[in-house]
Amino acid sequence: MKHKILYISSEAYPLIKTGGLADVSGSLPVALQNNEQEVCLLIPAYQSVLEKIGEKIIVAETFHYGQPIRILQTTLPGTDVTTWLVDSTQAFDRPGNPYLNSDGNDWPDNALRFALFAQTAVDIALNRCGLSWQPDVVHCNDWQSALVPALLKTFPTGPATVFSIHNLAYQGVFSSQTFFDLGLPAGLWGMYGLEFHNFLSFIKGGLVYADRINTVSPTYAEEIQQPALGYGLEKLLSHRKQRLSGILNGIDSDVWNPATDQYLTKNYDQQNLALKVDNKSDLQQQFNLPVDNNIPLFGMISRLVEQKGLQSILDAMPELMQKPLQIIILGSGEKHYEEALLQWASQYPDKLAINIGYNEVLAHQIEAASDLYLMPSNFEPCGLNQLYSLRYGTLPLARNVGGLADTVIDTSENTLNDHTANGFIVKQDTATALISTIDHALETYRHQEIWKQLQLNAMSPDRSWQASALQYIELYEKAIEDNRERL
Ligand code: ADP
Ligand code: GLC
Repeated sequence: MKHKILYISSEAYPLIKTGGLADVSGSLPVALQNNEQEVCLLIPAYQSVLEKIGEKIIVAETFHYGQPIRILQTTLPGTDVTTWLVDSTQAFDRPGNPYLNSDGNDWPDNALRFALFAQTAVDIALNRCGLSWQPDVVHCNDWQSALVPALLKTFPTGPATVFSIHNLAYQGVFSSQTFFDLGLPAGLWGMYGLEFHNFLSFIKGGLVYADRINTVSPTYAEEIQQPALGYGLEKLLSHRKQRLSGILNGIDSDVWNPATDQYLTKNYDQQNLALKVDNKSDLQQQFNLPVDNNIPLFGMISRLVEQKGLQSILDAMPELMQKPLQIIILGSGEKHYEEALLQWASQYPDKLAINIGYNEVLAHQIEAASDLYLMPSNFEPCGLNQLYSLRYGTLPLARNVGGLADTVIDTSENTLNDHTANGFIVKQDTATALISTIDHALETYRHQEIWKQLQLNAMSPDRSWQASALQYIELYEKAIEDNRERL
């Protein structure tokens, strides 16, 4: 059945991206439209977004927190998905990262910025700002849009709500005073509402009030119901487990396709896998590493934060630098990780190359050039890079957590025999466990026939959004049903 869906996110590729949420918000709406759904995307009009869209077309106006707000209309580049931008000069028209100032700290007015975003979303969801469009379902993502389900439930009627958790580690927690400063309805305060140990928690707006909650892999949906990864929200999540599910992310198979990727030295596919090596030689040259196909090359493209397993990589460095391998890391994040990696690279320029920064072209080139993709995350709600790697015949070496556990299948005698093996699993977040898995991978690399089979296993499955889009449509139907029962 056809539904009208308002898809709300704080980032969407290619308009604005800091991480995987942008990839999802830029491709799931398209997949939903390909399956007969009518989707409108809503994101903030950050300065860099305004620069990308050119002419400003104002389709509606509203007013919150003393600020005039314009709703601009455009389409998501390269698609026909209607995209509305919440244009508030004070909240969003500033340079830099959507969430952080130039010192790497949160913008001090983040609560106000994303409350204003949510209030505007509510105007659209209730069709009260003149857009003449009434969604059946409002789909919110992460804490930045999590107040929307809470606010909507303060009205006697309204659309159904779905809340997706992309990363429970980021919750939007502010002082209790902020709740009152934002003028949020008093009925939303309390431990069964937005309060979290006397603080205001934006993410609870989604977790408590949405008709349906989901996260981006089945394993992470289980993990967040346990104390280790529940961050104190595990009891709430397990209380709502009948409404909580896991749907694996897909990939944009046009953007991430080794056969057509415009950034590669040589395109390749399963039939022409031998061409992949040209990408490796080029990248080795670009990073001043010895150009040698016999040395296994590990790639990593990542936010440099604790989540991504940086500590075990650094702890393993003394041993890794003695092994026959090369590593290229592209990323930015916490300064101490950046500095420690640069330090190791200056000591071992023949083995380790670090590029600090954000670079989309290079991200594609690393995916294509590497033999292995390093992803020893401590936790990983889904992870997209291991999915890109699989498509590019680059075998992930990953922890058995979250979406990594659901997509990377360790190489063993059994999995080689049944042709499911597609990577290497690290069983603990220690340097010892990482090194032992790397040794297994290096040993396997010596057997080129086996390696090729692993690459083909990795590349074969369809990792597009199609299957997951159908699961989202089912979820929307359940949310509509739940919302109907409430009314
Ligand atoms: P997360 O969202 O936790 O950062 P994901 O694996 O879901 O992790 O998605 C990360 C996305 O961001 C991928 O598309 C990845 O290629 C991209 N990315 C991360 N860091 C960089 C970087 N330094 N340069 C280019 N792309 C990056
Ligand atoms: C988050 C998670 C990542 C996931 C992405 C998109 O940033 O850290 O695992 O792939 O969201 O859902």
